[in-house]
Amino acid sequence: MKQIIFGLCLLVITLDGSAEPATEANKAKAAIKDLAGALQAELKGAMQAGGPVAAIAVCNTQAITITAKVAAGHDIALSRVSLKNRNPANAPNAWQTAVLEDFERQKSAGENVTTLTWSETAKVKGGREFRFMKAIPTGAVCLNCHGTSLAPGVTDVLASLYPEDRATGFSEGDIRGAFVVTRKLPD
Ligand code: HEC
Repeated sequence: MKQIIFGLCLLVITLDGSAEPATEANKAKAAIKDLAGALQAELKGAMQAGGPVAAIAVCNTQAITITAKVAAGHDIALSRVSLKNRNPANAPNAWQTAVLEDFERQKSAGENVTTLTWSETAKVKGGREFRFMKAIPTGAVCLNCHGTSLAPGVTDVLASLYPEDRATGFSEGDIRGAFVVTRKLPD
């Protein structure tokens, strides 16, 4: 009997241990879905209302605010990063850079950019951290502000707002960057 109970405990621990990343990944995916939807709606509205030049101002002021709001609603940390970032606040750290480079390798190997994800649970100071990233593909509308031939007005506004802008020269289907979700987990 003792053995059966012990065995059951082990089973529960194992199930719990292996189920945790899946649950965390689902939470991360839900948050990313919300953020992608909110950013796309904001961009669409701004583009329709005033074209790309006016929409830059909306991205400039709203993207980070919207991201913070969605993150708070999901109880996670959420950001966007890119190997060629526009906003200096969106520069990737070391592990994010490694994942973005791996996404590029997978794209070169023919992987579908729209489904590229990565996750791990890392040991960090004071406990563990769940980390999740999802690639952001470049769509046609993105080329207005991230493509190779931008309208003169767009180039001017971008140059004045982002003197160190590296987020141009993209083509449709390229990896524009990635969403990053992190969440502290109990030990
Ligand atoms: C109207 C111009 C405009 C359009 C169109 C646009 N962006 Fe941006 N994008 C910006 C600006 C401005 C920033 C910097 C502000 C921010 O979002 O933090 C930015 C930043 C980003 C970032 C964060 C990384 C970085 O470079 O700082 C990602 C990812 C991104 N855009 C993806 C996209 C995607 C995907 C599309 C198409 C669905 C798109 N953008 C369309 C203007 C635009």
